Amino acid sequence: MKSEQGYYGQYGGSYIPEILYASQQQVLASFAEARDDPAFLAELHKQWQQYSGRPTPLTHCENLTNHLGGAQIYLKREDLNHSGAHKMNNVIGQGLLVKRMGKKRVIAETGAGQHGIATALVAARLGLECTIYMGAKDVARQYPNVFWMKQLGAKVVPVTTGSQTLKDALDEALRDWSANYEDTHYLIGTACGCAPFPEMVTFFQSVIGQEAREQSLTQIRKLPDRLYACVGGGSNALGLFTPFVDDEVELVGVEAAGKSMALGDHSVRLSHNLGSIGIAQGFATIFLQDDNGQLQSTHSIAAGLDYVGVSPIVAHLTETKRIRMEYANDNETLEACTLLLKKEGIIPALESSHALAMAFKEAPIMAKDQHIIVNLSGRGDKDIFNVAKAFNDAEFEPFLQDYLADYSLDKESVL
Ligand SMILES: Cc1ncc(COP(=O)(O)O)c(C=O)c1O
Repeated sequence: MKSEQGYYGQYGGSYIPEILYASQQQVLASFAEARDDPAFLAELHKQWQQYSGRPTPLTHCENLTNHLGGAQIYLKREDLNHSGAHKMNNVIGQGLLVKRMGKKRVIAETGAGQHGIATALVAARLGLECTIYMGAKDVARQYPNVFWMKQLGAKVVPVTTGSQTLKDALDEALRDWSANYEDTHYLIGTACGCAPFPEMVTFFQSVIGQEAREQSLTQIRKLPDRLYACVGGGSNALGLFTPFVDDEVELVGVEAAGKSMALGDHSVRLSHNLGSIGIAQGFATIFLQDDNGQLQSTHSIAAGLDYVGVSPIVAHLTETKRIRMEYANDNETLEACTLLLKKEGIIPALESSHALAMAFKEAPIMAKDQHIIVNLSGRGDKDIFNVAKAFNDAEFEPFLQDYLADYSLDKESVL
């Protein structure tokens, strides 16, 4: 979605401190040039293909379709990207832009750690210095990703202010950018932030929908009837949806309803009208906030979905009724995750399992000749600790204790 001023209806814009103006204008100009430069686009497609493994397949889930008895269910397999999530599409794009701008350092915020690890990977490959801001709670929930970020050479900064999740990490990253804008690019991981980030991230992620469109036409011989994607900041959803926006294809976004609908227990901003318009973190959108504009705490079993705001593009497309927003809670998400494991032999990320939950609810009431695509935004290996706890797996805790005992012994013998 192109917007000269960075506005989508009443959402978007660029509300940044004056000190960032020159840097933001440089990103704006470099992106405007790069998106029309055949050499840049050729390099981008080469890296997507040779480094990340694109195109990702469109997988027909025959067992699930038979089990649920309605629409034909397909998955767009973003879990098969290098690093295990769609985040890589955008990081490769912005990484190449950083080289083009001649900057030496990247910073990023991360929730589930998927964007952090993708940034650390690409920074290592492109020879860039890298600092990742991550809420302290997320550091604890996603330590394996943190471990690899550090091994890749990135500095990981746990953020201990506020709710210690994504929104606090984002504030810290903005502070760093303001102090170091001359040599540093803020590599935003979702379709949020000041212009041109929502549009730029959507541009890089739209490869998902472009491929899905072509694959539908060859594999199904028509466009799908409906698309589903989970919505944290909104990048995987916009990536899948954007190439279908002008088609007669229904677009369904799914937010995290967490533990309950009480404030602090969920991250439902749009689908229940619980959020309201505000300006924070460089842009105007729908935020979960109190009457004084204080951003509220959020919760989801999926670390990548507990963001307090949402992409201005998603807010606009929801307001204009082009996207239908729904929600799934933690339990529904775990059930959907289990069903995909058992019926299709695929381990989904908990974020993506929100989209699966809504698709599995609605597919049985659709006709057998209708087709739906669910964006499988990531793979679930990273979620093993959370899922084992939620499933109350009897052997997982003893395994951890044994592992810990061995780990300490081994460490002593090495020292
Ligand atoms: C696997 C996965 N899916 C989805 C998301 C949500 O982000 P977005 O809404 O930008 O796609 C994340 C965020 O970390 C993620 O890791």
